[in-house]
Amino acid sequence: MAVQINPSILSADFARLAEEAESVSGPEGADWLHVDVMDNHFVPNLTLGVPIVESLARATDTPLDCHLMIEDPDRWAPQYVEAGAGSVTFHAEAAAAPVRLAREIRAKGARASMALKPATPIEPYEDLLPELDMLLIMTVEPGFGGQAFLDIMLPKIRRTRELISKHGLQLWLQVDGGVSADTIERCAEAGADVFVAGSAVYGATDPAEAVRSLRAQAAAKTASSAWACDH
Ligand code: DX5
Ligand code: ZN
Repeated sequence: MAVQINPSILSADFARLAEEAESVSGPEGADWLHVDVMDNHFVPNLTLGVPIVESLARATDTPLDCHLMIEDPDRWAPQYVEAGAGSVTFHAEAAAAPVRLAREIRAKGARASMALKPATPIEPYEDLLPELDMLLIMTVEPGFGGQAFLDIMLPKIRRTRELISKHGLQLWLQVDGGVSADTIERCAEAGADVFVAGSAVYGATDPAEAVRSLRAQAAAKTASSAWACDH
């Protein structure tokens, strides 16, 4: 699969979301828009909820990748599918019944994805991977944009890529947090294929050019990486 770049609107201007979505859309633009939903309980920050996702879905042709940093995703995640999200990510640490929830998200017509905070290992979830369309490895503690990338997450990305290969899965492997021109190649080399970038895209003078440039870097590194050459 080609690498994908998902700008995070957390670093965009919330008063101009439609324009900010437009600024990264187009043929070589964002593959998905990453929408960070925070409830001030699961993480110490509060962002947006279902009504804004609904409006944004109507305002842009770019599919929405909703990252739910909320408690009780078992209750709330299905509403984000109904609001128009094409992919919904819940946190492993917050879900009471991740298999049931992933099946419900898929049954409602979206891609189902699960996220792991930095201290959560992948190994206990090996048998669940076939239930998912994407696994998100957080490369910062969730809650805020603009934090420094945690290099100590690279081994977990590598081990997850090995599990995906071992089981022959089509699972996408997303990284989120501190992804930039300085760090994206390390993520690609370790096995990530979907890259969330907030400040590296919306903090740039030309966000569309930042998307193209990050994609070129990730694609070049992937092409020369052992995990991708195996296939
Ligand atoms: C952080 C969010 C990220 C955030 C990334 O909890 O999940 O999606 O927007 O922002 P940067 O790319 O600036 O680290
Ligand atoms: Zn996110």
